[in-house]
Amino acid sequence: MTDPNRLRVPAAPRSADPAASRRAFLTGSLAAGGALVAAAAARASTGAGDPAILEIPDWTRYNGFGVDEYPYGVPSPYEAHVVRRNVPWLTAESVSSINFTPIHELDGIITPNGLCFERHHGGAAEIDPAQHRLMINGLVDKPLVFTMDDLKRFPRENHVYFLECAANTGMEWRGAQLNGAQYTHGMIHNVMYTGVKLKHLLDEAGVKTNGKWVMPEGADSAAMTRSIPIEKAMDDCLVAFKMNGEALRTEQGYPVRLVVPGWEGNMWVKWLRRLEVGDEPWHHREETSKYTDMLADGRSRRFTWEMDAKSVITSPSPQAPILHGKGPLVITGLAWSGRGTIPRVDVTIDGGKNWTEARMSGPSLDKSMHRFYLDIVWDGSPLLLQSRAHCSTGYVQPTKSELRAVRGENSIYHNNGIQTWYVNEQGVAENVEIS
Ligand code: MTE
Ligand code: CO
Repeated sequence: MTDPNRLRVPAAPRSADPAASRRAFLTGSLAAGGALVAAAAARASTGAGDPAILEIPDWTRYNGFGVDEYPYGVPSPYEAHVVRRNVPWLTAESVSSINFTPIHELDGIITPNGLCFERHHGGAAEIDPAQHRLMINGLVDKPLVFTMDDLKRFPRENHVYFLECAANTGMEWRGAQLNGAQYTHGMIHNVMYTGVKLKHLLDEAGVKTNGKWVMPEGADSAAMTRSIPIEKAMDDCLVAFKMNGEALRTEQGYPVRLVVPGWEGNMWVKWLRRLEVGDEPWHHREETSKYTDMLADGRSRRFTWEMDAKSVITSPSPQAPILHGKGPLVITGLAWSGRGTIPRVDVTIDGGKNWTEARMSGPSLDKSMHRFYLDIVWDGSPLLLQSRAHCSTGYVQPTKSELRAVRGENSIYHNNGIQTWYVNEQGVAENVEIS
Protein backbone atom coordinates (compact mmCIF):
# COMPACT_ATOMS: atom_id res chain seq x y z
CA MET A 1 0.00 0.00 0.00
CA THR A 2 2.85 2.42 0.64
CA ASP A 3 6.01 3.01 -1.34
CA PRO A 4 9.09 3.64 0.84
CA ASN A 5 10.81 5.57 -1.96
CA ARG A 6 8.16 8.23 -1.92
CA LEU A 7 9.14 11.69 -0.83
CA ARG A 8 8.80 12.21 2.91
CA VAL A 9 8.27 15.80 3.78
CA PRO A 10 9.73 16.44 7.21
CA ALA A 11 7.32 17.74 9.82
CA ALA A 12 7.41 21.50 10.17
CA PRO A 13 9.67 22.64 12.99
CA ARG A 14 7.50 24.22 15.66
CA SER A 15 9.69 27.16 16.55
CA ALA A 16 9.01 30.79 17.29
CA ASP A 17 10.29 33.76 15.29
CA PRO A 18 13.27 35.82 16.53
CA ALA A 19 11.04 38.65 17.77
CA ALA A 20 9.57 36.30 20.32
CA SER A 21 12.84 35.00 21.65
CA ARG A 22 13.45 38.46 23.09
CA ARG A 23 10.98 37.35 25.68
CA ALA A 24 13.22 34.74 27.19
CA PHE A 25 10.59 33.59 29.67
CA LEU A 26 8.56 32.16 26.81
CA THR A 27 11.27 29.86 25.52
CA GLY A 28 10.65 26.98 27.89
CA SER A 29 7.06 26.44 26.86
CA LEU A 30 7.86 26.97 23.15
CA ALA A 31 10.40 24.17 23.16
CA ALA A 32 7.84 21.72 24.49
CA GLY A 33 5.76 22.11 21.33
CA GLY A 34 3.16 19.57 20.22
CA ALA A 35 3.74 17.14 23.08
CA LEU A 36 2.42 19.69 25.58
CA VAL A 37 -0.68 20.31 23.52
CA ALA A 38 -1.46 16.60 23.40
CA ALA A 39 -0.86 16.16 27.10
CA ALA A 40 -3.06 19.12 28.00
CA ALA A 41 -5.89 17.74 25.88
CA ALA A 42 -5.65 14.35 27.58
CA ARG A 43 -5.86 15.96 31.04
CA ALA A 44 -8.87 18.06 30.06
CA SER A 45 -11.17 15.21 30.96
CA THR A 46 -9.96 15.11 34.59
CA GLY A 47 -8.76 18.70 35.14
CA ALA A 48 -7.39 18.01 38.62
CA GLY A 49 -3.76 18.82 39.28
CA ASP A 50 -3.14 20.67 36.02
CA PRO A 51 -0.48 23.37 36.72
CA ALA A 52 -1.70 25.34 33.70
CA ILE A 53 -4.92 26.05 35.59
CA LEU A 54 -3.55 26.06 39.17
CA GLU A 55 -0.60 28.40 38.62
CA ILE A 56 -0.66 31.96 37.28
CA PRO A 57 1.29 32.07 33.99
CA ASP A 58 3.81 34.80 33.09
CA TRP A 59 1.52 36.37 30.50
CA THR A 60 -0.94 37.13 33.28
CA ARG A 61 1.69 38.51 35.67
CA TYR A 62 3.24 41.07 33.25
CA ASN A 63 1.93 43.52 30.68
CA GLY A 64 1.99 42.37 27.10
CA PHE A 65 3.33 44.40 24.15
CA GLY A 66 1.95 47.84 23.39
CA VAL A 67 -0.08 49.00 20.41
CA ASP A 68 2.98 50.34 18.56
CA GLU A 69 4.88 47.04 18.55
CA TYR A 70 3.46 45.78 15.25
CA PRO A 71 2.09 48.55 12.98
CA TYR A 72 1.24 45.72 10.58
CA GLY A 73 0.20 42.71 12.64
CA VAL A 74 1.80 39.29 12.39
CA PRO A 75 0.57 35.86 13.55
CA SER A 76 1.35 34.59 17.06
CA PRO A 77 4.90 33.21 17.29
CA TYR A 78 3.29 29.89 18.22
CA GLU A 79 1.92 29.77 14.66
CA ALA A 80 5.35 30.23 13.04
CA HIS A 81 5.12 26.78 11.44
CA VAL A 82 2.06 27.85 9.40
CA VAL A 83 3.86 29.00 6.27
CA ARG A 84 4.01 28.43 2.53
CA ARG A 85 6.52 25.73 1.67
CA ASN A 86 8.07 24.51 -1.53
CA VAL A 87 9.42 21.17 -2.67
CA PRO A 88 12.99 22.01 -3.75
CA TRP A 89 13.41 19.17 -6.23
CA LEU A 90 10.28 20.12 -8.21
CA THR A 91 11.88 23.10 -9.94
CA ALA A 92 15.43 24.24 -10.70
CA GLU A 93 15.31 27.75 -9.23
CA SER A 94 13.02 29.75 -6.97
CA VAL A 95 12.24 32.56 -9.45
CA SER A 96 10.53 30.09 -11.78
CA SER A 97 8.90 27.96 -9.15
CA ILE A 98 5.94 27.22 -6.96
CA ASN A 99 5.17 27.03 -3.27
CA PHE A 100 2.14 25.64 -1.51
CA THR A 101 -0.63 26.98 0.73
CA PRO A 102 -0.62 25.27 4.18
CA ILE A 103 -4.24 24.14 3.76
CA HIS A 104 -3.81 21.53 6.52
CA GLU A 105 -3.50 24.35 9.09
CA LEU A 106 -6.35 26.58 7.86
CA ASP A 107 -10.07 26.61 8.51
CA GLY A 108 -13.09 28.35 7.05
CA ILE A 109 -12.90 29.24 3.37
CA ILE A 110 -10.67 32.34 3.14
CA THR A 111 -6.92 32.02 2.60
CA PRO A 112 -4.96 34.66 4.55
CA ASN A 113 -2.98 36.86 2.14
CA GLY A 114 0.44 35.90 3.47
CA LEU A 115 -0.30 32.19 2.97
CA CYS A 116 -1.54 32.24 -0.65
CA PHE A 117 0.65 29.93 -2.72
CA GLU A 118 2.89 31.61 -5.30
CA ARG A 119 3.59 30.57 -8.85
CA HIS A 120 5.91 32.75 -10.89
CA HIS A 121 7.72 32.15 -14.15
CA GLY A 122 10.16 35.06 -13.78
CA GLY A 123 10.03 36.02 -10.11
CA ALA A 124 7.66 38.47 -8.44
CA ALA A 125 7.88 41.90 -10.08
CA GLU A 126 8.06 44.88 -7.69
CA ILE A 127 6.04 47.57 -9.41
CA ASP A 128 5.58 51.23 -8.51
CA PRO A 129 1.82 51.71 -8.96
CA ALA A 130 2.30 55.35 -9.98
CA GLN A 131 4.44 54.17 -12.93
CA HIS A 132 2.18 51.29 -13.87
CA ARG A 133 -0.18 51.42 -16.86
CA LEU A 134 -2.76 49.02 -18.29
CA MET A 135 -3.23 49.20 -22.07
CA ILE A 136 -6.06 47.81 -24.18
CA ASN A 137 -5.18 47.51 -27.86
CA GLY A 138 -5.74 45.32 -30.94
CA LEU A 139 -9.19 44.91 -32.43
CA VAL A 140 -10.81 47.82 -30.60
CA ASP A 141 -12.31 51.11 -31.80
CA LYS A 142 -10.24 53.18 -29.39
CA PRO A 143 -7.00 51.86 -27.84
CA LEU A 144 -6.80 52.98 -24.20
CA VAL A 145 -4.18 53.36 -21.50
CA PHE A 146 -5.31 53.36 -17.85
CA THR A 147 -3.42 54.50 -14.77
CA MET A 148 -4.25 52.79 -11.45
CA ASP A 149 -6.30 55.88 -10.53
CA ASP A 150 -8.26 55.55 -13.78
CA LEU A 151 -9.11 51.95 -12.94
CA LYS A 152 -10.38 52.95 -9.51
CA ARG A 153 -12.97 55.29 -11.08
CA PHE A 154 -14.93 52.41 -12.64
CA PRO A 155 -17.69 50.71 -10.61
CA ARG A 156 -16.19 48.05 -8.35
CA GLU A 157 -17.35 44.57 -7.34
CA ASN A 158 -16.42 42.10 -4.61
CA HIS A 159 -16.25 38.36 -5.22
CA VAL A 160 -14.71 35.38 -3.44
CA TYR A 161 -13.06 33.01 -5.93
CA PHE A 162 -10.60 30.15 -5.70
CA LEU A 163 -7.50 30.17 -7.90
CA GLU A 164 -6.16 26.67 -8.59
CA CYS A 165 -3.04 26.04 -10.66
CA ALA A 166 -3.77 23.47 -13.37
CA ALA A 167 -0.75 21.54 -12.02
CA ASN A 168 -2.27 21.17 -8.52
CA THR A 169 -2.13 17.44 -7.58
CA GLY A 170 -0.13 16.92 -10.80
CA MET A 171 2.56 14.85 -9.05
CA GLU A 172 -0.09 12.31 -8.02
CA TRP A 173 -1.10 11.10 -11.50
CA ARG A 174 0.84 7.85 -11.35
CA GLY A 175 0.37 7.07 -7.68
CA ALA A 176 0.55 8.53 -4.18
CA GLN A 177 3.60 10.76 -4.08
CA LEU A 178 3.79 13.74 -1.74
CA ASN A 179 3.08 13.25 1.94
CA GLY A 180 0.88 16.18 2.92
CA ALA A 181 -2.26 18.02 1.81
CA GLN A 182 -0.16 21.17 1.49
CA TYR A 183 1.93 19.48 -1.20
CA THR A 184 -0.74 17.40 -2.93
CA HIS A 185 -3.49 20.07 -2.97
CA GLY A 186 -1.90 23.36 -1.89
CA MET A 187 -1.61 25.09 -5.28
CA ILE A 188 -4.87 26.81 -4.46
CA HIS A 189 -6.07 29.88 -2.62
CA ASN A 190 -9.43 31.52 -2.04
CA VAL A 191 -9.74 35.24 -1.35
CA MET A 192 -12.21 38.08 -1.79
CA TYR A 193 -11.22 40.21 -4.76
CA THR A 194 -12.17 43.82 -5.26
CA GLY A 195 -11.92 45.01 -8.82
CA VAL A 196 -13.55 46.25 -11.99
CA LYS A 197 -15.37 44.05 -14.44
CA LEU A 198 -13.14 43.49 -17.48
CA LYS A 199 -16.30 44.03 -19.54
CA HIS A 200 -16.46 47.70 -18.45
CA LEU A 201 -12.93 48.34 -19.71
CA LEU A 202 -13.45 46.46 -22.97
CA ASP A 203 -16.73 48.32 -23.59
CA GLU A 204 -14.91 51.59 -23.02
CA ALA A 205 -12.41 50.61 -25.75
CA GLY A 206 -15.14 49.17 -28.01
CA VAL A 207 -14.36 45.60 -29.15
CA LYS A 208 -14.66 45.20 -32.94
CA THR A 209 -16.97 42.43 -34.25
CA ASN A 210 -13.98 40.24 -35.25
CA GLY A 211 -12.45 40.55 -31.77
CA LYS A 212 -12.83 36.99 -30.46
CA TRP A 213 -9.96 36.64 -27.97
CA VAL A 214 -8.51 38.75 -25.20
CA MET A 215 -4.80 38.24 -24.63
CA PRO A 216 -3.56 39.50 -21.27
CA GLU A 217 0.14 40.20 -20.75
CA GLY A 218 2.06 40.59 -17.48
CA ALA A 219 4.70 43.22 -16.67
CA ASP A 220 6.99 40.63 -15.03
CA SER A 221 10.21 39.46 -16.69
CA ALA A 222 8.33 36.40 -17.98
CA ALA A 223 5.88 38.79 -19.72
CA MET A 224 3.29 36.05 -19.31
CA THR A 225 0.66 35.96 -22.03
CA ARG A 226 -2.50 33.87 -22.21
CA SER A 227 -5.58 33.77 -24.45
CA ILE A 228 -9.12 34.08 -23.16
CA PRO A 229 -12.25 33.75 -25.33
CA ILE A 230 -14.18 37.03 -25.57
CA GLU A 231 -17.32 35.39 -24.08
CA LYS A 232 -15.48 34.63 -20.83
CA ALA A 233 -13.78 38.05 -20.81
CA MET A 234 -17.19 39.75 -21.14
CA ASP A 235 -18.83 37.47 -18.57
CA ASP A 236 -17.25 37.43 -15.09
CA CYS A 237 -13.54 38.32 -15.43
CA LEU A 238 -12.27 41.03 -13.09
CA VAL A 239 -9.34 43.39 -13.19
CA ALA A 240 -8.61 43.24 -9.46
CA PHE A 241 -6.49 45.44 -7.22
CA LYS A 242 -7.49 44.25 -3.75
CA MET A 243 -7.51 40.85 -2.03
CA ASN A 244 -9.24 40.33 1.31
CA GLY A 245 -9.71 44.07 1.56
CA GLU A 246 -6.11 45.21 1.19
CA ALA A 247 -3.91 45.83 -1.84
CA LEU A 248 -2.80 42.71 -3.71
CA ARG A 249 0.42 41.29 -2.32
CA THR A 250 3.47 41.79 -4.57
CA GLU A 251 3.61 38.06 -5.25
CA GLN A 252 -0.07 37.97 -6.21
CA GLY A 253 0.39 40.63 -8.92
CA TYR A 254 0.49 44.06 -7.24
CA PRO A 255 -0.84 46.49 -8.31
CA VAL A 256 -3.32 44.69 -10.58
CA ARG A 257 -4.11 41.17 -11.76
CA LEU A 258 -6.65 39.44 -13.93
CA VAL A 259 -9.24 37.23 -12.22
CA VAL A 260 -10.69 34.47 -14.41
CA PRO A 261 -13.25 32.77 -12.12
CA GLY A 262 -13.31 28.97 -12.16
CA TRP A 263 -10.60 28.71 -14.81
CA GLU A 264 -7.08 27.39 -14.35
CA GLY A 265 -4.61 29.66 -12.55
CA ASN A 266 -2.22 30.28 -15.44
CA MET A 267 -4.82 32.52 -17.12
CA TRP A 268 -5.02 34.84 -14.10
CA VAL A 269 -2.21 37.07 -15.35
CA LYS A 270 -0.46 38.97 -12.54
CA TRP A 271 1.14 42.44 -12.81
CA LEU A 272 -1.33 42.98 -15.70
CA ARG A 273 -0.09 45.61 -18.18
CA ARG A 274 -1.77 44.89 -21.51
CA LEU A 275 -4.91 43.32 -22.94
CA GLU A 276 -4.73 42.74 -26.67
CA VAL A 277 -7.95 41.90 -28.48
CA GLY A 278 -7.42 39.52 -31.40
CA ASP A 279 -9.25 37.20 -33.77
CA GLU A 280 -7.32 34.05 -32.88
CA PRO A 281 -5.68 32.84 -29.65
CA TRP A 282 -1.98 33.19 -28.95
CA HIS A 283 -2.08 29.47 -28.15
CA HIS A 284 -1.69 28.88 -31.90
CA ARG A 285 1.75 30.40 -31.73
CA GLU A 286 3.29 29.42 -28.43
CA GLU A 287 1.07 27.34 -26.20
CA THR A 288 0.68 24.06 -28.03
CA SER A 289 2.74 22.04 -25.57
CA LYS A 290 2.29 23.89 -22.28
CA TYR A 291 -0.92 23.62 -20.31
CA THR A 292 -2.47 20.92 -22.44
CA ASP A 293 -3.46 17.52 -21.09
CA MET A 294 -1.80 14.53 -22.70
CA LEU A 295 -4.10 11.55 -23.31
CA ALA A 296 -3.02 7.89 -23.24
CA ASP A 297 -2.76 7.74 -27.05
CA GLY A 298 -0.48 10.79 -27.21
CA ARG A 299 -3.24 13.13 -28.40
CA SER A 300 -3.86 16.13 -26.19
CA ARG A 301 -6.93 17.85 -24.88
CA ARG A 302 -7.00 21.55 -25.74
CA PHE A 303 -8.80 24.41 -24.11
CA THR A 304 -9.52 22.58 -20.87
CA TRP A 305 -9.73 25.70 -18.79
CA GLU A 306 -12.49 25.04 -16.29
CA MET A 307 -11.46 23.44 -13.03
CA ASP A 308 -13.71 20.45 -12.30
CA ALA A 309 -15.17 19.70 -8.87
CA LYS A 310 -12.57 18.53 -6.38
CA SER A 311 -12.15 18.10 -2.64
CA VAL A 312 -9.57 17.06 -0.07
CA ILE A 313 -9.59 16.27 3.63
CA THR A 314 -7.21 18.78 5.19
CA SER A 315 -7.29 17.31 8.71
CA PRO A 316 -6.47 14.66 9.69
CA SER A 317 -3.80 14.43 6.99
CA PRO A 318 -0.06 13.61 6.92
CA GLN A 319 0.98 17.02 8.27
CA ALA A 320 -2.01 17.15 10.64
CA PRO A 321 -2.00 13.83 12.51
CA ILE A 322 -4.46 12.98 15.29
CA LEU A 323 -2.64 13.98 18.49
CA HIS A 324 -5.39 13.45 21.03
CA GLY A 325 -6.05 9.74 20.74
CA LYS A 326 -9.48 8.11 20.45
CA GLY A 327 -12.75 9.89 21.16
CA PRO A 328 -14.32 12.92 19.46
CA LEU A 329 -12.61 13.73 16.16
CA VAL A 330 -13.30 16.59 13.76
CA ILE A 331 -12.66 15.56 10.17
CA THR A 332 -12.57 18.60 7.90
CA GLY A 333 -11.71 19.60 4.38
CA LEU A 334 -12.23 21.82 1.37
CA ALA A 335 -14.26 21.39 -1.80
CA TRP A 336 -14.57 23.59 -4.87
CA SER A 337 -15.73 23.64 -8.48
CA GLY A 338 -14.94 25.98 -11.36
CA ARG A 339 -18.43 25.36 -12.70
CA GLY A 340 -20.62 26.34 -9.75
CA THR A 341 -21.12 25.67 -6.05
CA ILE A 342 -20.69 22.53 -3.92
CA PRO A 343 -24.07 21.59 -2.45
CA ARG A 344 -22.75 18.35 -0.96
CA VAL A 345 -19.61 16.48 0.05
CA ASP A 346 -19.53 12.81 1.10
CA VAL A 347 -16.87 11.46 3.43
CA THR A 348 -15.82 7.85 4.02
CA ILE A 349 -13.62 6.60 6.86
CA ASP A 350 -13.39 3.03 5.52
CA GLY A 351 -12.01 3.55 2.02
CA GLY A 352 -15.38 3.93 0.30
CA LYS A 353 -17.43 1.06 1.76
CA ASN A 354 -19.72 3.52 3.52
CA TRP A 355 -20.21 7.18 2.69
CA THR A 356 -21.70 9.83 4.99
CA GLU A 357 -22.87 13.25 3.90
CA ALA A 358 -20.60 15.85 5.49
CA ARG A 359 -21.83 19.04 7.19
CA MET A 360 -21.15 22.16 5.13
CA SER A 361 -20.33 25.28 7.13
CA GLY A 362 -19.74 28.80 5.88
CA PRO A 363 -20.84 30.61 2.73
CA SER A 364 -21.59 28.57 -0.40
CA LEU A 365 -20.41 30.88 -3.17
CA ASP A 366 -20.05 30.31 -6.90
CA LYS A 367 -16.51 29.21 -7.90
CA SER A 368 -15.31 29.52 -4.30
CA MET A 369 -13.97 27.06 -1.77
CA HIS A 370 -16.46 25.35 0.53
CA ARG A 371 -15.71 24.02 4.03
CA PHE A 372 -17.03 20.66 5.20
CA TYR A 373 -16.91 18.73 8.49
CA LEU A 374 -17.64 15.23 9.66
CA ASP A 375 -17.71 14.95 13.45
CA ILE A 376 -17.09 11.39 14.58
CA VAL A 377 -16.08 9.47 17.68
CA TRP A 378 -12.89 7.69 16.71
CA ASP A 379 -12.50 4.20 18.18
CA GLY A 380 -8.75 4.22 17.52
CA SER A 381 -8.83 1.76 14.62
CA PRO A 382 -7.13 2.62 11.30
CA LEU A 383 -8.98 4.91 8.91
CA LEU A 384 -9.03 5.20 5.14
CA LEU A 385 -10.27 8.74 4.67
CA GLN A 386 -11.70 10.08 1.43
CA SER A 387 -13.97 12.95 0.42
CA ARG A 388 -16.13 13.23 -2.71
CA ALA A 389 -17.46 16.58 -3.95
CA HIS A 390 -20.76 17.06 -5.75
CA CYS A 391 -20.95 20.07 -8.09
CA SER A 392 -24.13 22.08 -8.47
CA THR A 393 -24.07 20.99 -12.14
CA GLY A 394 -24.66 17.38 -10.99
CA TYR A 395 -21.08 16.30 -11.73
CA VAL A 396 -19.49 14.10 -9.04
CA GLN A 397 -15.75 14.04 -8.29
CA PRO A 398 -14.25 10.86 -9.84
CA THR A 399 -11.95 8.28 -8.26
CA LYS A 400 -8.36 8.28 -9.46
CA SER A 401 -8.98 5.05 -11.41
CA GLU A 402 -12.05 6.54 -13.11
CA LEU A 403 -9.94 9.55 -14.07
CA ARG A 404 -7.09 7.42 -15.42
CA ALA A 405 -9.53 5.29 -17.45
CA VAL A 406 -10.47 8.44 -19.37
CA ARG A 407 -7.25 10.43 -19.29
CA GLY A 408 -4.46 7.81 -19.12
CA GLU A 409 -1.35 8.39 -17.01
CA ASN A 410 0.59 10.91 -19.10
CA SER A 411 -1.08 13.98 -17.67
CA ILE A 412 0.15 16.50 -15.16
CA TYR A 413 -2.71 18.95 -15.30
CA HIS A 414 -6.29 18.79 -14.04
CA ASN A 415 -6.04 15.90 -11.58
CA ASN A 416 -9.27 16.11 -9.57
CA GLY A 417 -9.38 12.46 -8.45
CA ILE A 418 -10.47 11.44 -4.96
CA GLN A 419 -7.60 11.60 -2.43
CA THR A 420 -7.03 8.90 0.22
CA TRP A 421 -5.28 9.31 3.58
CA TYR A 422 -4.48 6.24 5.67
CA VAL A 423 -4.52 6.94 9.42
CA ASN A 424 -2.99 4.31 11.72
CA GLU A 425 -3.83 3.50 15.36
CA GLN A 426 -1.38 6.17 16.53
CA GLY A 427 -3.17 8.82 14.49
CA VAL A 428 -0.30 9.14 11.99
CA ALA A 429 -1.61 9.80 8.47
CA GLU A 430 -0.05 9.11 5.09
CA ASN A 431 -0.83 9.52 1.42
CA VAL A 432 -1.95 6.23 -0.12
CA GLU A 433 -3.95 4.95 -3.05
CA ILE A 434 -6.57 2.26 -2.89
CA SER A 435 -8.47 0.54 -5.75
N1 MTE B 1 1.13 35.96 -14.29
C1 MTE B 1 2.37 36.42 -14.59
N2 MTE B 1 2.50 37.66 -15.06
N3 MTE B 1 3.47 35.63 -14.44
C2 MTE B 1 3.36 34.32 -13.98
O1 MTE B 1 4.38 33.65 -13.84
N4 MTE B 1 1.84 32.51 -13.23
C3 MTE B 1 0.50 31.98 -13.49
C4 MTE B 1 -0.58 32.97 -13.06
N5 MTE B 1 -0.30 34.29 -13.52
C5 MTE B 1 2.06 33.82 -13.66
C6 MTE B 1 0.97 34.70 -13.81
C7 MTE B 1 0.21 30.70 -12.88
S1 MTE B 1 0.77 29.29 -13.67
C8 MTE B 1 -0.61 30.59 -11.78
S2 MTE B 1 -1.07 29.08 -11.16
C9 MTE B 1 -1.10 31.79 -11.07
O2 MTE B 1 -0.64 32.99 -11.66
C10 MTE B 1 -0.64 31.75 -9.63
O3 MTE B 1 -1.14 32.85 -8.92
P1 MTE B 1 -0.61 33.18 -7.46
O4 MTE B 1 0.89 33.35 -7.52
O5 MTE B 1 -1.36 34.35 -7.00
O6 MTE B 1 -0.93 31.94 -6.63
CO1 CO C 1 -0.25 27.61 -12.63
